[in-house]
Amino acid sequence: MKNDPTIDIDIKRAPTSKIDSIDFENLKFGHIFTDHMMTCDYKDGSWQAPKIMPYGPISMEPSAKVFHYGQAVFEGMKAFKDDQDQIWMFRPKDNFNRINISAKRMAIPEFPEDYFFTALDALLKMDKDWIKKGFGNSLYIRPFVIATEPGVSASPGTNYKFMIICSPAKSYYNGEVRVKFSEDYSRAADGGVGFAKAAGNYGAQFYPTNLAKEEGYQQIIWTDANTHSFLEEAGTMNIFFRINDTLITTPTNDRILDGITRKSLIALAEENNINVEIRKVPVQEILDAAKEGTLKEIFGTGTAATVNPISGFGYKGDKHELPKLTDSYATFFKDKLMKIQYNLAEDKHGWRYLVK
Ligand SMILES: Cc1ncc(COP(=O)(O)O)c(C=O)c1O
Repeated sequence: MKNDPTIDIDIKRAPTSKIDSIDFENLKFGHIFTDHMMTCDYKDGSWQAPKIMPYGPISMEPSAKVFHYGQAVFEGMKAFKDDQDQIWMFRPKDNFNRINISAKRMAIPEFPEDYFFTALDALLKMDKDWIKKGFGNSLYIRPFVIATEPGVSASPGTNYKFMIICSPAKSYYNGEVRVKFSEDYSRAADGGVGFAKAAGNYGAQFYPTNLAKEEGYQQIIWTDANTHSFLEEAGTMNIFFRINDTLITTPTNDRILDGITRKSLIALAEENNINVEIRKVPVQEILDAAKEGTLKEIFGTGTAATVNPISGFGYKGDKHELPKLTDSYATFFKDKLMKIQYNLAEDKHGWRYLVK
């Protein structure tokens, strides 16, 4: 996981920076991008030298395969700045591995690790002023790969573009998040691409999520496609349930993303003597626990929000509110994780990566 100084990156700097025109106090997530981006083309059977250039539009033929067959995968990761101006990332090797797992499933050639870390470090150093200090400030990093080859034949492309774009982010209070347990629609099926960060997994959720929004929910917790009786994950978050003082989360499989925040939280729970059960989560068990008053919390985990508490859920027309706790596990884990991310706590697991 090291950058390699012998890799030649073709760097073209932006003539001026946009940074002075940005209101860093009022950032809407994922709307503003930094001065530079990384791009790397795959052609003639190999990845060419990475380039860093001013952020801006790219041109492609309208017949490029990504537009027709959705051959596209992506990642989401963050960089943080500590009080000494050092830049840290959180488990970026896991994101790197995962984009290649996703790529393989979508018949996209895997990207080399030394290109990834060399180009990412160079990009972050060039745009370092966009990473603001202070708990909650971060830079959201979006690596992605698209099939650029022109031609509408339904077959994998032979030309691809790997890119990294970066967007400054603030920690938000997301407001009260209420979720709907899915009754009919499915996000992923056995043998499908649910475990991959394939673009189409996300586009396919928009319509059912809009329907849920009309009923007053912000997100859906997807259930298994066969029976809709087991809770799986949310659109961009893995999900944990707390019954009494035990946490329960579903095992990952070919329908569920192997979330990096999820597995970090499981490790932190274990070292803090909080019991975690990794097993299937029946909808009925959660309904019963809500009725008996033993369901204490539901929260989601993911790079964008770290830990996102859920205030209520709906199922088959019934709405359930969750208690407001002063000692929630969600707050406990969010604080623990963020302190590691911002270099404010010991990093026992070697999760932090220093950008050099
Ligand atoms: C479907 C899905 N589940 C879970 C997650 C959370 O994963 P991570 O913690 O690695 O960000 C994400 C976000 O990446 C996601 O898109």
